[in-house]
Amino acid sequence: MDALPHILTAQAFSKEFLESVFARTDEMVARGGKHYRSDALCGKKVFLLFLEPSTRTRESFAAAALALGASVRSLDNPKETMSLKKGETLSETVYTLSRYYDAIVLRQSEAYVAREAALASSVPVINAGDGPNEHPTQAILDLYTVREWHKKIDGLTVLIAGDLMYGRTVHSLVYALSLYKIKKLIFVPHPLLPLPRQVQKYAELHGIPCEETDCFWRAVPEADVIYQTRVQKERLKDEAVAADSAPKIDEHILAVTKKDACILHPLPHGGELARTALEDPRTLCFSAQEDNGLFTRMALLEMIFEQTN
Ligand code: CP
Repeated sequence: MDALPHILTAQAFSKEFLESVFARTDEMVARGGKHYRSDALCGKKVFLLFLEPSTRTRESFAAAALALGASVRSLDNPKETMSLKKGETLSETVYTLSRYYDAIVLRQSEAYVAREAALASSVPVINAGDGPNEHPTQAILDLYTVREWHKKIDGLTVLIAGDLMYGRTVHSLVYALSLYKIKKLIFVPHPLLPLPRQVQKYAELHGIPCEETDCFWRAVPEADVIYQTRVQKERLKDEAVAADSAPKIDEHILAVTKKDACILHPLPHGGELARTALEDPRTLCFSAQEDNGLFTRMALLEMIFEQTN
């Protein structure tokens, strides 16, 4: 199976790989979802090395590993309590952890560092977000959610709005969507935070028609999927950039959104989702996306350990 055992970039995914994760997830959902339990990872130890804040990625990986019978270790403030504080490199830290644990889930603030860390590791490393670069397991749960809602991925028009420059979930999502016959990708960036050219190029090289617009309400009626993102203030030097002017989903946007469209957001959110948007049944970020984060990560962990056993 390609893309395993390390999960570093959605560019390494194939359609076959994603479909097999989705099929495994379907099985786990049918067998209880949140209540699914197995001993597939019994005796295994998973370390969650989160050097940036997280709620849903860290806790869904923890819950997934526990559901499969693994032991989980996670530190609340690793930058202060590990030898990183004394100047040890991340690669040395990951190398050391790989001598004690069976898998490492890594979140940190620098692009591409997950790849370096994986080179130092003798066990699978899962990129849980590397700075502004990628968040590949988020793309798996996002696509699974789209597939669940629309019963397909091929043929859809997907609109992606907000901070497309630093929104790492966006980059991984575009790479993963590029494996499907997407009708069109429409980008509506914050005016100062456009999609990196190479990310759009990747989709175009895979035959996906792409367009960019600053007119959110005009683009929305065509979309089958609206993927909204927050401005990643933690990556900005100039706080003024983070001020308004990002596309926002409110009652006016909801009024022109297709009745069968779904609205996704990786969370956490800022002002870009109005209360009416959060309460709209088409908005799945606090329902299906949250649940599917757990279910797809259970499937992924089980498949990773099948490859490494
Ligand atoms: N989507 C996501 O990465 O959320 P957390 O930062 O809460 O993990």
